[in-house]
Amino acid sequence: MNNKLFSVIFSLAVAIALVGPLFAAGGGTALQHANVNVRDTAAVQRGAKLFVNYCLSCHSASYMRYNRLAEDLGLDEELVMDNLVFADVKIGETMDIAMRPADAEAWLGKVPPDLSLISRSRGADWLYTYMLTFYQDESGGWNNLALPNVSMPHVFWQLQGIQKPVYATHDGIEVVDHLTLGKPGLQSPEEYEGTVRDLVTFLDYLGEPAKVKRKNVGVWVLLFLALFALIAYALKAEYWRDVH
Ligand code: HEC
Repeated sequence: MNNKLFSVIFSLAVAIALVGPLFAAGGGTALQHANVNVRDTAAVQRGAKLFVNYCLSCHSASYMRYNRLAEDLGLDEELVMDNLVFADVKIGETMDIAMRPADAEAWLGKVPPDLSLISRSRGADWLYTYMLTFYQDESGGWNNLALPNVSMPHVFWQLQGIQKPVYATHDGIEVVDHLTLGKPGLQSPEEYEGTVRDLVTFLDYLGEPAKVKRKNVGVWVLLFLALFALIAYALKAEYWRDVH
């Protein structure tokens, strides 16, 4: 390959690598920061409860078993059975749903995807933005800034209230400029952001359950390395004393 061709391909590859993630998010709306912390077990627990109550009727999380959830969240299996498992399932089963995909498609227009790995494909910030930007458009139906023409209803509308779009014209095209709270919900906007953060923290944990352990182990590994550096340094000082 000649040099010029190589440099053109190389700079294209760099450009795609830099710009790609911007497009990956899709929807064209600016993402808000979720600031989730999967080591905050209380937040993961609250998120798990929200997930079971508000999402599991349509979305499965078939990579997660209830007993794994219990272990990771430091919960008694009995507590999990009483608080999180409503259907007639056993503690060792995965978080599946009863709805048949064909029915889901008929009712909702689309099959709700499994959410086990959604935090990996979409990212926490996208999920956070998604759950914050549902609004009611002129047709009276639900729409969403992160996923335009979404076929999922706003399941948290009673908590958040109903957002209305404010339009602006950019280059002759009418677009949603921002959203306003047309009808307040049971939670204040700050409380609702906290609720969504808990939910996204759970989804982030769900995408990589080992993350919690990995982060905990990581602290010990770093401490060990720091301690070992001290020992190695003391050893070096000891050896070199004889050489000098
Ligand atoms: C009434 C059924 C229903 C409920 C309840 C529901 N969803 Fe959905 N969800 C859907 C459908 C249908 C889609 C497909 C939307 C589309 O692509 O237009 C979807 C799509 C999504 C997506 C986008 C997936 C993607 O990458 O395209 C996410 C994320 C999501 N749901 C999260 C949730 C969460 C979190 C909850 C609970 C708070 C929830 N959903 C509750 C039906 C539901």
